[in-house]
Amino acid sequence: MMKLWMAPAGLHIEPGQMGDARELARIHATGFYRGWPEAEFADFLGDPSTPVYVACDPKRRIAGFALIRIAADEAELLTIAVDPKWRGKRVGAALLRAVFDDLLMSPARRMFLEVSEDNQAAIRLYKSQGFATISQRKGYYAKPDGSAATALVMSRDLG
Ligand SMILES: CC(C)(COP(=O)(O)OP(=O)(O)OC[C@H]1O[C@@H](n2cnc3c(N)ncnc32)[C@H](O)[C@@H]1OP(=O)(O)O)[C@@H](O)C(=O)NCCC(=O)NCCS
Repeated sequence: MMKLWMAPAGLHIEPGQMGDARELARIHATGFYRGWPEAEFADFLGDPSTPVYVACDPKRRIAGFALIRIAADEAELLTIAVDPKWRGKRVGAALLRAVFDDLLMSPARRMFLEVSEDNQAAIRLYKSQGFATISQRKGYYAKPDGSAATALVMSRDLG
């Protein structure tokens, strides 16, 4: 049976498929100074330890996605991105809730992520979904102007 979660604005969330790599690379590039190549997304999509969740409309046009890595009892949010025209509609929050729900069926008991201290939208999203800052990594992210931003390491229990 296919996994399916409800999302706002007529969208739903389902597992990513091999053919999604190009669209994931496009959406990811809208959100990050350094994009990841399509081939990297194809590798993630083919690897059961790195599940991908896509938010899409009934025609399966992708509005956003979350990519995680599961290792023993820990899960890491590798990235999450929402297409600019879909942002602010709680698609990001719905993606995280789908991830938490799905991970209840996995051995993972705790989830971690890293986020630039500059990224207020993402930090607010993570806090609203139960993540708390556990440490900081200074000078972790390279910025377009050559300076470096601190990364916050956040975590949340998976219940
Ligand atoms: C971060 C991102 C995934 C959020 O997705 P989204 O679907 O727009 O977020 P939601 O609509 O679900 O918002 C969830 C929360 O974040 C807040 N938020 C979203 N965009 C925001 C913004 N631009 N500024 C401030 N807060 C914002 C919302 O207010 C909401 O908080 P609330 O529940 O307290 O009201 C999206 O902005 C994005 O793709 N950014 C570029 C990629 C990125 O930075 N990813 C995270 C890297 S670690």
